Amino acid sequence: MSATILDGKKLAESVRAEVRTGVDVFVKEHGRPPGLEVVLVGENPASQIYTRNKEKAAKEVGIRGKLHVLADDTTETELLALLGRLNADPAVDGILVQLPLPKQIREQRVLDAIDPAKDVDGFHPVNAGLLASGRPSLVPCTPRGSMKLIALAGGSLDGARAVVVGRSNIVGKPMAQLLLAANATVTMAHSRTTDLASVCREADVLVVAVGKAELVRGDWIKPGAVVIDVGMNRIDMPGAIPGDTLKTKLVGDVAFEEAKERASAITPVPGGVGPMTIACLLENTLLAARARMTPKRGH
Ligand code: GUN
Repeated sequence: MSATILDGKKLAESVRAEVRTGVDVFVKEHGRPPGLEVVLVGENPASQIYTRNKEKAAKEVGIRGKLHVLADDTTETELLALLGRLNADPAVDGILVQLPLPKQIREQRVLDAIDPAKDVDGFHPVNAGLLASGRPSLVPCTPRGSMKLIALAGGSLDGARAVVVGRSNIVGKPMAQLLLAANATVTMAHSRTTDLASVCREADVLVVAVGKAELVRGDWIKPGAVVIDVGMNRIDMPGAIPGDTLKTKLVGDVAFEEAKERASAITPVPGGVGPMTIACLLENTLLAARARMTPKRGH
């Protein structure tokens, strides 16, 4: 039987509609929209597209979105100075620095410099630590969106076997934390895992985020599993001349056509996790804005 296709585009649209309503209420209460500042350093073509999409999506739901495009040779000091200004600006609720950064800039220094209250990517060690302690505040967008897709598939995570392939700070680690918090039994697998296929075959829920085109084959999938494919790999179409951009296609980390014959539900690439990441960024921006405007209770 063929799997249910988890439509991330449609689910993202409903998340965005909820954010739009929340933004309208926020504007009435506070006399200003939530503000999101997106920072792009350099000319990575994929990052250029992602950041433009983030700014555009923010504006579409009534968030004041601003994209800062900095030159490829920007120094770490210059970037930190910009972040200092954005941290201090009361009209800024969310700050996102697109990764990867040019090699002269230390990623950790930059992520550490963002005010945790404005860290809508959830990459600051304070937010990563809160998530690991079971006290999530701002949760990374891709894992957050992936959990919503798993919920869309239905079924309970309680006691389920979940396998996360990939151990990045952006996806794999926070994803495992969220699954654990939902009472799944979680295995983290990665490039050094021996017999990855067998580990994957144990998964009732399989999340793959490694960036290797069609690594996970159909026979790695437990029949009836829910499969979340975070990969976005551009590959040449059969017969294409290498470098001919018209003859490329986007594929995930899972061999979709094979996997959909075994899974009960699966995300497509494109149109699965990708749209959810941006929708959850908008949600995080609204959450950050609300939290910043709510006076903290005393201890
Ligand atoms: N690069 C790839 N994914 C992401 C993301 O979710 N946030 C940021 N800031 N950079 C990324």
